This record gives sequence, structure tokens and C-alpha cells, in this order.
Amino acid sequence: MRHPVAKLLLFGATGDLAQRMLLPSLYGLHADGLLPDGLTITGTARSEHDDASYRSFAAEALDEFLPDDRKDKAAIASFLDRLGYQPLDATKIEGFADLATKIGDTSGGLAIFLSTAPTLFRPTIKGLESAGLAGTNVRIGLEKPLGNDLQSSCEINDAVAEVFPEDRTFRIDHYLGKETVQNILALRFGNALFEPIWNARGIEHVQITVSETVGLEGRAGFYDDTGALRDMVQNHMLQLLALIAMEPPSLYDGTAIRDEKVKVLRSLRTMTPGEVPHLTVTGQYNAGAVNGEIVRGYADELGHASGAETFVAVKAHIDNWRWQGVPFYLRTGKRLPTRQSEIFIQFKPVPHSMFAQRGGTLQANKLVIRLQPDEYVRLLVMAKEPGLDREGIHLREVPLDLSLDVQFAGTRRRIAYERLLLDLIEGDPALFVRRDEVEAQWQWIDAIRRGWAENAVKPKPYPAGSWGPSAAIALTERDGVTWHDD
Ligand code: BG6
Repeated sequence: MRHPVAKLLLFGATGDLAQRMLLPSLYGLHADGLLPDGLTITGTARSEHDDASYRSFAAEALDEFLPDDRKDKAAIASFLDRLGYQPLDATKIEGFADLATKIGDTSGGLAIFLSTAPTLFRPTIKGLESAGLAGTNVRIGLEKPLGNDLQSSCEINDAVAEVFPEDRTFRIDHYLGKETVQNILALRFGNALFEPIWNARGIEHVQITVSETVGLEGRAGFYDDTGALRDMVQNHMLQLLALIAMEPPSLYDGTAIRDEKVKVLRSLRTMTPGEVPHLTVTGQYNAGAVNGEIVRGYADELGHASGAETFVAVKAHIDNWRWQGVPFYLRTGKRLPTRQSEIFIQFKPVPHSMFAQRGGTLQANKLVIRLQPDEYVRLLVMAKEPGLDREGIHLREVPLDLSLDVQFAGTRRRIAYERLLLDLIEGDPALFVRRDEVEAQWQWIDAIRRGWAENAVKPKPYPAGSWGPSAAIALTERDGVTWHDD
């Protein structure tokens, strides 16, 4: 059941995420008539703005970050009418009373979105509580990072839980808002075809790649303290892994889906410190060329030497019946050759080849689920090449292609935050991350970081524009596996 609220309060309303994603997403929902009638949006941040100057600020952000064909003057004007602003230093509790006055009556429901530094979460929660902005008709959305290890994450979750119960806490992982990520559920559980072989009997290994071409993007401080493992693997990639590996939920709802995901996350095999150097590879990019453009190395961009990893590859195992013995290889990095997120499933070979004696060679089936930038599902199957086969049978691997871009041409591709903001406003928790999931994710990640610390693991250099350090190739090749990257 959806319960839309009448008001939205946005913390971090002048920040980078607000400009690039949140305002354009809210505008997208508004322009499509999906926001509740009369929903007001109040922005708050430290910067001094009044309603009028914040509207101008938002108008500039829309102008910069909306594609031209989405800029509708009348829709932008009516969207800006929804916006208001209240300056606030979240570390000072006094300011929250003015914020509450600005918001006014919350009996129609209030959704709050915290897109601020995690250090501000605790004072913000306290401030909201003191100002009466945490009642039973208020729900809260939390943007990552939710801590930087299990302990700090528990501290944040505890502070939030003192004021907001779990069913009113919406933790964002924007990958869950991506259409193709949700399509993993449709593919797996809307088709009878895959499920019977979606296990250790049918699948040899799984690869999950999220590669980016960008470098630091002006987020030096945050990124250098975080590194690729915590920035990408702890959240987005483990969520992808959970969706790929979970048992079929009985219902499409927040409890059923998240119950199944958390079982997978808790079944991830914790690495011992001694195993970590053999099961993980870290890298940091040097100068190089990406898409034909010369780019600086990480330390140069940062202005000093650093031990942060901008690339990580991990060999993971899930200790349950379904996945026993099936490696999950994960890799992600900045300044790689292409922007590409995908899941690659390598199926097992047929048990016996009747073609061998006639010279026909078989390759085991593969499934590629490409999440971005293009969106498709491609099944690689064996076909017979045309011909009379007098000198032997020729078989070839050919793709069975489902291009979502083509099949659903004409449908606007939404920003992931559109979906998530709408679900927050309407109170549907299915695509948000539950506390037990986040904590299971951190538990596994912390063990890797302990292993790096105990073994003094330093990231290996790789040239920008390459697929990471050669050790990442060795990580899979020693199992006879090649990373998929076309
Ligand atoms: C964010 C990370 O969570 O995800 C960024 O902090 C990363 O470092 C981004 O660039 C990637 O998101 P997307 O949607 O562009 O794949």
C-alpha cells in the first residue's frame, strides 16, 4: 500500500547530488504528473538562500543537468513553485525550530531525504526529533555512505533507530533504482527458463563488472578516504550479487525481497587475513589515456601520494547449497577503458558433446546482463554454421539478443533517483536497503580491509585506460577464467 506524503524535506539541497540528480529527478516526476498534487519541497543546507534565490539556484541546476528535450518552460516554472528553502547549520540544534516553522503542519506526512556527510546524520536526527519533525507520519531517506565500517555504520543506524523505526527508514542504494537492475528480478523470476540451471549445477562462475572512465570528479577528499572497495563494492556490487544469487522471494515486497537478499549477504564467505592477498587485487591509476584523451594519474590529480585503491577485484564465494563452489568475481575501478556495468554468467558445458567426433567444438552458454550504458540481455548459444559439413561440423557461438533499448524504444530512460524518490514519497520500501543487509555487507568488507592492513597490501599501479593491474587478470586466469570485456 502506498501512502504519499504531502511534504518533502531535502537536506544537502545545494550539494552536488541535489544539483545533478535529485532536482532533475524531482522535476522529471513533476513533469510526468507523478508527484502528489500540492507536494511541497523544502530544501535545506548551510548556504544562505531564501525561497526565491533557491528557486533560481534550482533553475540553474535544471538548465545544466537536464537534457534539452526535457526542458519544458511551463513545467519548470510550476516545478519551481513547489520549492522553498530554509538555511540550517545541522550541527546547531537551535536552527531546527525555524526549520519546523518553515515546514509547518506535517499531518499530511513528511518525507525527509538526508544527502549530507554522515558526520551530520546524528545531529540532524537529534535536531529533527527536538523540533517535532520525527513523528509517526515522518519517514527518512538516507544517502550513502552509511559509515565507513561495520562499527560506524552501526553507530549511525543506532542513532537513526532511536528516532525513526526501521519501517520508516529508507536507505538508498541508487543502483536499485536502475531499471536494468530491477530487470534482474524480471529475468530470473518472470521466466521459467533460467531458474532450473541457476545454481552450482548449471553455472561455472559469475562476473560482476562496474567499470568507470571518470577519475576523481572533484570528490578528492571523500574518495581518498573511501577507496573503491567501500565506494562501490560494499553497496552497489554486493546488492547486484545479492539479486543474482538470492532465492526466489514469494512476493514482490520489501520484506520478502530483503529477507532473501540478506540471506545471501550473510552467506558470503568471510576471508581470513591470510586469504585476502590471494582473493583480492587492488590498484591505483597512473597517467594514461582514456577514450583517446590523456589523463593524469590519481596522485597527481589528488596533489599527493595516497594509499587509496581506485581499482579492486575480488573473488567471492557464497556458502550455501545453491552456490557451493561457484566463484563470483567482482571488479570495479576508475579510469578504465569504458563505462560499462554488467553481470556475466558462465554456464557449465553440456555433459557430453555428440559433435566432437565430427570435429565440432562447443562453447558453454553465457549470459550477459548489461546494465549500462546500453541495456541488454544477451544469451550466447551454439548454432550450426550453414553448409553441407562434408569435412566436419562447424558450430559457432551466436547471440540471442534482447535489447531493452530497442524493445522499449520510446520509453524515457529515467534517472535511478526518480524511482527511489517516488518510492520514498509514497512509502514503498522494496528498493531500499534494510539495516541487516548493510551490516552484513560491512561485515564482509571489513574482513577484507583487515587482511589488507595485516598484510600491508598496497594498490598496484595501472595505466589509466587499462583494465587494472595485471594481477587482476591473474586472479581469474589461474582458475582458467577470462574477464569478459567487450
Ligand atoms: C557512486 C560512487 O555511489 O556511484 C561514485 O560514489 C560512482 O564513485 C557512482 O561514480 C557510479 O554510479 P553510476 O550510476 O554512474 O554507475
